[in-house]
Amino acid sequence: MQNVLKWETKDKTNKVHDQHFLTLSSFSSNEIFSLLEEAQKLKKLQKKGIPHPYLQGKVLGMIFDKASTRTRVSFEVGMLQLGGHAIFLSSRDIQIGRGESIQDTAKVLSRYVDGIMIRTFEHQSIEEFAEHSTVPIINGLTDSHHPAQVLADLLTILEHKGSFKGLKLCYLGDGNNNMCHSLLEGAVKVGMDISIATPKGYEPNEIILENVLKEAKVTGVNVECGTDPQKMIAGADVVVTDVWTSMGQEDEAAKRLEVFASYQVNDGLCQLAKDDFIFLHCLPAHREEEVTATIIDGPHSVVFDEAENRLHAQKAILKLLMES
Ligand code: CP
Ligand code: NVA
Repeated sequence: MQNVLKWETKDKTNKVHDQHFLTLSSFSSNEIFSLLEEAQKLKKLQKKGIPHPYLQGKVLGMIFDKASTRTRVSFEVGMLQLGGHAIFLSSRDIQIGRGESIQDTAKVLSRYVDGIMIRTFEHQSIEEFAEHSTVPIINGLTDSHHPAQVLADLLTILEHKGSFKGLKLCYLGDGNNNMCHSLLEGAVKVGMDISIATPKGYEPNEIILENVLKEAKVTGVNVECGTDPQKMIAGADVVVTDVWTSMGQEDEAAKRLEVFASYQVNDGLCQLAKDDFIFLHCLPAHREEEVTATIIDGPHSVVFDEAENRLHAQKAILKLLMES
């Protein structure tokens, strides 16, 4: 693992890269490795019951425009374990839900809290929030990115496989969603090959993919996208899927069940992966839709380690962005 790089500036200039955690693409490989290293340290401290109040007295505001179990609880518990406090703000209950602007909300909240986590729909909204906030903004999921989840996924892969070197991750299902995009951005940073199996019309966003491909050329990572699940999963060390219908797409659920049917992660398909493959899913999962119970509840599945690692990975993000 590479050495920890200390965050370079915290000068409240509102520069997205320096102050916020919106996507993995705005971080260098070194920064991602140092976050993973910090997460492992924090995990050890927590497991040994050693207090680690790096954020004593700090407050995180958490705005949710969409439902959540893991993100809400892990950020809240993480702040508590770091000696701080988190405030849950449902968009239904705050004035933003009645039309107060993002700009004003960002400016006002920045006067009270030391960091803001947001789960929302359009990625542009979180960028606008970051532009007007003077405290760090953390992406807790947008329609196009889920970087906190993928940092936890990378931590889980590292724990189970020891290194990213020579690994191939295969993602099957909706290529044009938050998980697929953040996995692409994360894999290319840590030097892990990635293949995406997705039906025609559900490929990753062109701009995101183009940027990932550019970076892959430099880092020597193999990125493959195709429609054939058998071909894409062949020899995979890590198999990942996600729901076929993401939050906000409920009207398309019936159509998606048909379109994605042949991308189900099941015993037959997984026979083509390596014998010691691990299976990841960010959860919540729909058994017998995107994955069979035999896989998600079977010996290759590490989905509950993955869910736990949300806590440790996010504590590293919080510490990095909010520690004085
Ligand atoms: N994986 C994930 O983000 O879960 P929640 O929707 O429960 O937060
Ligand atoms: N792609 C899923 C992830 C849920 C954590 C969604 O956006 O609903």
